[in-house]
Order: sequence, then structure tokens, then C-alpha cells
Amino acid sequence: MKEEAKKLDGRLALVTGSTRGIGLGIANCLAESGAMVIVTGREEAKAKVAADEIIAGGGRAGFLGVDLTDDLAVDQLIPQLEARYGKLDILVNNAGIDADNLLLDHPLEKWRMIMKVNLEVPFRLGKAAAPHFFEKSKGVIINISSILGYKPGMEAAGYVPSKHGLIGLTKQMALEWAGKGVRVNGIAPGLIQTDMTRYVWNTPAGEIYVKNKIPVGRIGQPRDVGALAAFLASDDAGFICGETILVDGGSLLI
Ligand SMILES: NC(=O)c1ccc[n+]([C@@H]2O[C@H](COP(=O)([O-])OP(=O)(O)OC[C@H]3O[C@@H](n4cnc5c(N)ncnc54)[C@H](OP(=O)(O)O)[C@@H]3O)[C@@H](O)[C@H]2O)c1
Repeated sequence: MKEEAKKLDGRLALVTGSTRGIGLGIANCLAESGAMVIVTGREEAKAKVAADEIIAGGGRAGFLGVDLTDDLAVDQLIPQLEARYGKLDILVNNAGIDADNLLLDHPLEKWRMIMKVNLEVPFRLGKAAAPHFFEKSKGVIINISSILGYKPGMEAAGYVPSKHGLIGLTKQMALEWAGKGVRVNGIAPGLIQTDMTRYVWNTPAGEIYVKNKIPVGRIGQPRDVGALAAFLASDDAGFICGETILVDGGSLLI
């Protein structure tokens, strides 16, 4: 029997921060839609483990180790990818870090590091990928912001501006590059069950939090975000441009 064509067949996707959590959920969903996915994280060995899992599940995957706090490594990432895999069709800027600080307590270096990984790196990777996309008049960028890109939050004095900024960067990239065949959109997850949010869901108060703060009544899973990423990356989303879509179970309604 002829195998059914998938929406992302033949596409090569780079997902930053995909060794675990939301990035891995996105990588899994892109792979299930037919893309070959390049998994990245700080350690190449961990990226290989995640890529091997995707391959074991019937998908196509490769891996690269890259520490996104390292300027040189960021500059080399897209050229390295082009050299090794020969193309790039989808860039997902997912890697992100946070810190529990109020404004007056926030050490400057830590604030700068959050802005670097969460905002500067998507700017730099987008700039590096864009010329490759322009050449073939086709490409997709998906930036992973947050519900805290839409509202402030306690003890997130670096994270909140970085995620608001990423929504602005998404709009700017979309405006400048849509005419050259590049579609740029974002996703704003609410509470998703990952290591980053373990301090919320892995506590006795977690269940009450979910009940009171998430109208759909459950915590989000990485695949809730991954499913939207796979849609946004596909041609079915061809008229969606510059949006950052909430995947938050209705949390912002409260
Ligand atoms: N979880 C949530 O509820 C939630 C809600 C809204 C938005 N988000 C956003 O979604 C994205 C993913 O969050 P998550 O919850 O999946 O986070 P996570 O569980 O902490 O995973 C973070 C990922 O980023 C990678 N990473 C961290 N620092 C890195 C660095 N310096 N260089 C390269 N890779 C690095 C990690 O890889 P290694 O550790 O292997 O290096 C890991 O794969 C982030 O942008 C986050 O802000 C999450």
C-alpha cells in the first residue's frame, strides 16, 4: 500500500532546547508530521538520546550540541546545520530560561543572561536563517514566548520583559520577511508540565493551582504546544502571519 504523504515531508526543522520539555514535544510532533528534526541542547550526548528516541518512534532526527549563551556557538549554528544537513526549512526558537527575582532583587548579569537566551538568540538565529529562506522564497520561524509575554508575573522580572519582547520580535520579523516567503509566528504556552515548572506542579499546592487557574482543569503537556507548532509549520497555516497564539487552557481568561 502507498504510504500517505505527511504535511511536513521533506522539511528540515531545527528546534532549540529540544532535549526535553516543550522543545522535545515540538520535535516529536514535527517528526510525526514528516519533518526531519534536529534536536539541540547544551550537551550533544543528551541531544543524541532525544534524537534516538524520535528515530525509535519511526521519525527522522539528527542532533547538535550548542550552548546558546556562547556567542561563537550561536554564530556557527546555522552554518554548521547547512554544512551537515544541506538545508533548513523550519526554525523553532524554543530554548528559554527563567529566574525567580523581583525587579529590585534581580542581579544585572542574570537579567542579561535571560534576555540573551530568550530574546537575543532568537533575533540572531532568525537573522542567520533568513537568507537561506529568502533564496528559496520559503521558510517558517516559530518563536516560543509565554503567557508571561502577555501579562506580568510575580518574581519573573527578567523573564516577563524577555517574553513580551519576543512577541514584538515575532511581529517585526513577520512584517519584514512575509513578502520574501518567510512566515513568522509565535506560541505563548501557559502552565506546561516540564522541568521549568516543576516548582508549581510538583507541590501539594499544585493541584489547587491547576483547579483555580486553568479553566480546562488540567496542566498542559509538551505535545499541546507541539501540535500547534506542527500546524503553524505546515502550509495549512499559510495565511497566519505575525501571531503569537496562546496555548494555556484558558488561563489568561481568569
Ligand atoms: N513550561 C512552561 O510552563 C512554559 C510556559 C510558557 C513558556 N515556556 C517556554 O517554553 C520554552 C521551553 O520551556 P520548558 O518548560 O520546556 O523548559 P525546560 O524544561 O527547562 O527545557 C529547556 C530546554 O532548553 C535547553 N536549554 C536551556 N538552556 C540552554 C542553553 N544555554 N543553550 C542551549 N539549550 C539550552 C535545555 O537543554 P539542556 O538542558 O539539555 O541544555 C532544554 O532542552 C522556554 O522558552 C520557556 O520559556 C514554558
